[in-house]
Amino acid sequence: MKKIVNGRKSSKILQGRIMTALFYEPSSRTFGSFISAMQRLGGGVIPLQGMTYSSVAKGETLEDTIRTFESYSDVIVIRHPEVGSAKRAALSSKIPIINAGDGVGEHPTQALLDLFTILSKFKKIGGLKIAFVGDLLNGRTVHSLSKLLVKMGRVEFFFVSPKNLRMPEEIKNQLKNIKITEIDKLDGIINKVNVIYVTRIQKERFSSLAAYEKVKNFYIVNKKLMEKAGKNIILMHPLPRVSEINPDVDDDPRAVYLTEQMRNGLYVRMALLAAVLGKI
Ligand code: NCD
Repeated sequence: MKKIVNGRKSSKILQGRIMTALFYEPSSRTFGSFISAMQRLGGGVIPLQGMTYSSVAKGETLEDTIRTFESYSDVIVIRHPEVGSAKRAALSSKIPIINAGDGVGEHPTQALLDLFTILSKFKKIGGLKIAFVGDLLNGRTVHSLSKLLVKMGRVEFFFVSPKNLRMPEEIKNQLKNIKITEIDKLDGIINKVNVIYVTRIQKERFSSLAAYEKVKNFYIVNKKLMEKAGKNIILMHPLPRVSEINPDVDDDPRAVYLTEQMRNGLYVRMALLAAVLGKI
């Protein structure tokens, strides 16, 4: 997939196939990269963004919406605010459903591109020490990525978050046989890890603005803090970032969020679409 994109080669492997992108929640990268991925492989798209329950407002169930786009397309990519929505969609669909984020639940395609990014740098997962920083309670990317990484090798995790935004017990219970340290501050462990994965405080999941304001600037990774980190590490973020990584870090060669990590989303989603449509 990298060769197709970077060699400006055209591919027709998904010609004649159509993907519906059914987005009930805001998205730039996931939406854009799925559309791009399908088109890079010669396929067509039905891009539906800002669904914001528009049809649901008329009373349509998710199941009926899925049945509709199943008639028009070959694969549906869905982002929806409810945990379990993608699974529900899959249960009522005859065509593949790809979860592009189900509320605070999971974000599996982000986990795949994050894994690909980490593997590209370190070649193997076993032995890596990884710090997840920020809103670990509501951030779905860290839920999926932590579960995926433990399947790939013996890792060690540092869960760095304010106390009220800790990784859910239910996720931790699934992370078997690995060492996990939960702490509030990044400073003390920043020199111990290979990967720093920063996440946004998920404002839209808070019940009040006041509760969000209390923690919104809890972490700010800046140039000064990065001086304490190892030379051979990578600094990741699924984006969008708000204030948790200062732009003065963007040019640091260890920062991959605006470069490799984002670009890998395109390659990985191309591969995933080709796979679910039976082409690789
Ligand atoms: C993430 C998401 O939507 O969960 N964004 C993304 O897909 N890259 C992270 C976030 O919104 O903070």
